[in-house]
This record gives sequence, C-alpha cells and structure tokens, in this order.
Amino acid sequence: MIRVNENYSKLQSSYLFSEIVRRVKAYQADHAEKKIIRLGIGDVTEPLPPACIEAMHKAVDEMAQRTTFRGYGPEQGYPFLREAIAQNDFQARGTQIEADEIFVSDGSKCDTANIQELFGDKLTIAIPDPVYPVYVDTNVMAGRTGKNTKGRYKGLVYLETSEANGFVPALPEQPVDLIYLCFPNNPTGATATRNQLAAWVKYARENKALILFDAAYEAFIRDPTIPHSIYEIEGARDVAIEFRSFSKTAGFTGTRCAFTVVPKTVVAYTKKGEAVPLNPMWNRRHTTKFNGVAYPVQRAAEAVYSEEGKTQTRALTDFYLGNAAIIRSTLAELGYSMTGGENSPYIWVNVGKDSWKFFDKLLKRAQVVTTPGAGFGRCGQGFIRISAFNSRENVEEAMKRLRKVLK
Ligand code: MLT
Repeated sequence: MIRVNENYSKLQSSYLFSEIVRRVKAYQADHAEKKIIRLGIGDVTEPLPPACIEAMHKAVDEMAQRTTFRGYGPEQGYPFLREAIAQNDFQARGTQIEADEIFVSDGSKCDTANIQELFGDKLTIAIPDPVYPVYVDTNVMAGRTGKNTKGRYKGLVYLETSEANGFVPALPEQPVDLIYLCFPNNPTGATATRNQLAAWVKYARENKALILFDAAYEAFIRDPTIPHSIYEIEGARDVAIEFRSFSKTAGFTGTRCAFTVVPKTVVAYTKKGEAVPLNPMWNRRHTTKFNGVAYPVQRAAEAVYSEEGKTQTRALTDFYLGNAAIIRSTLAELGYSMTGGENSPYIWVNVGKDSWKFFDKLLKRAQVVTTPGAGFGRCGQGFIRISAFNSRENVEEAMKRLRKVLK
C-alpha cells in the first residue's frame, strides 16, 4: 500500500502567498472593473538590467552555434560565475570565501528547504517569529515538528521578535542545534548589527549549532555599519551557511538564479560527536539531485558583477528603496509606526488590529494588496507587510488610496 507523508496534514491551510492569491482572485471575480495594485508578495516589476540582457542574448547566440553550444554544465555552477561571486560579494568585503564554497542554484527558497537533507531528524530547531513561512513549513513537511496547536508547532523553539527588541531575536534560553536567521529580515525589514550577529555566531560555536543565514535582501543595505554577510563576523565560517539570490538584487524572480555558500570549514556532527564537513555533503547532494542553472542565465548573473551591471543593479535597488521611502512617509503621515524600508524593500507596519481583517479592508476599499503579518507567525498578528516592489506610478497611486481609506 502506497503510504502518504502524513506530516503534510500538520500544515496550516495553504501557503501564505497562495492564500493571498485566492482572496485577490475571489475579490477580482466580483469586481472586474477595479484596478488592483499588488504590494503583497515581494515580486520585482522592473526589467532586467541591460548588462544582464546583453549577456543573456550573447549566451543564447552561443547556444545556436555548434562550436560554442553547451550541454550540461557543472552542477555547482560555471567557474566564471562562482569566481565572480566569491570575488565581488565576499573577498572584496574582506571575507574569505572561495569559489568552491559557492553552489549556484535556481533559488534560495528551494535551497533553504533542501539543505535540511544534510541534518539528522532529531534536532532542536530555532525559528524566529514572525518569519518567512518556508523555513517552518519545510521542517513540518520533513517531519521535524509535532502537531500545530494555536499557531505553534510542537518541537520548534520560537524566537519571538517585536518592536521591543527591534525584531532581532534574543539568544534562546535552551540549547538549540539549528538556527534560522534572515537579515535584512523578511518580513519585518529589520537589520542586525555586527554585535548582534556576533552574539549568534558565538552562541553557535559554543553550542555546536549551525546558523542558516538568509541574506537574500543584502543588496538593499545602505547603512555602511550593517554587515552584508554573516561571514563578516569572525568565526562564522565554521558555523554558518549563507543563502543569496539574484531575485531581488537584479530582478531575477522569473529568471531564477541564486547561490548557497557552504564553507569548507562548516561542520555537523555524528551521533558519536565526530565532525563531518558539510561542503562535500552539499556537493554530493547538488550533483546527485540538480543539473545546474541554464547557461544564459548564469551569464546574465555574471554580468551583475561587471562595471555596468553594478551601476545598473544599484540603480534598480535604489529605485525600489525610493518606493519604500514613499510608502514609509505616507504611513508615518497617517500615524502608523513601522520598521524596514530603509535597508530593505519591506515595510512592516503596526496596524493595531487583526492583520487579515486589515488586509481585507485594504483589498476591498483601496484595492491594494499587502501581506497580513499573522501569515508570518503568531508575533506578526497586528501587523501588515507592504512590499516596495512595484512601479513608481502604482506605488504613488496605492498611497493615494491608502490616504483616503485610512485618514
Ligand atoms: C516574499 O514576498 O516574501 C518573497 O517574495 C517570497 C519569496 O522570495 O519566495
């Protein structure tokens, strides 16, 4: 008898962003004439930087010629891209990350989920609340949690964040083995200082724990004192895996390219306490289960690091940060307190009421889609997340509507 993975039945309703799509569709079906503005899911709207487009075109032309055509590429990514990443994202910032510690993939969402394969099933996992729902849901699917009661899965250690701690979690009071951190944070837009990250690295080293550091939004950091990578913290190479993506940095949400950094010094332990390096394990996993990102896409990603590419991607993130500033000033004028939007494309707004109700109000009265904070965890109740990813025209129109509905 074929048996089903019953862990799936523990999941809470549908995936957050699918539920939002469902509600928006239902509303639109009855109000076809209304123009809806989407500031919900963090999906980019602006075209790819010209340097990326040019590189992609050139690579497509290479694929059209017998002499330059390429079949399977290296599963870990082409050396040209791995080297460009190591040099520009890490070595140029004084962090010692080498090309063979970079694994190119089609997305950080999949990587943060798939990385769990390297770990044992009896782990104590610390997950912030609120949090990007993929970290929690994929652990549920893998059977690493118990049942959900009142919005909390048994077996997870929730690291609560709030306005009081600036949405940066405090160290857990009990020992944990695996820690998820995301900075600049999705959903709160909060950032962590060097000292705050150093405390986590120290904790991980002392407790033989591992940090999964999601830095998908690092390109939005403008404050020069905020670390872009966990590896800027001394000792992090031994206790942290970092996830990065071209999705938000360069508009690749539909093009698909990301990478995971697994330093050769990072380890996990056997039952007997022997240290096992994770880099060869991830390499084994990647080569067995993944056939690499398309060659033209990797060429486009490489172009992000050219001189023009750097200028153009900076202009792109500056543009979305410009939207974020407009959203922040409108919400402030309306009397709301918020975090994010300064070194992050997300603005996390304290709405002081049920977040799904507030979401529905904005959808129905302003035709503006946001993301209800409660969808990111119990501590997200009372907040909504507004994404700065949209055209300037749509953001301005959305703010005009919010002024009307919320004044
Ligand atoms: C979000 O809106 O939180 C993100 O776009 C989701 C993602 O990157 O998968």
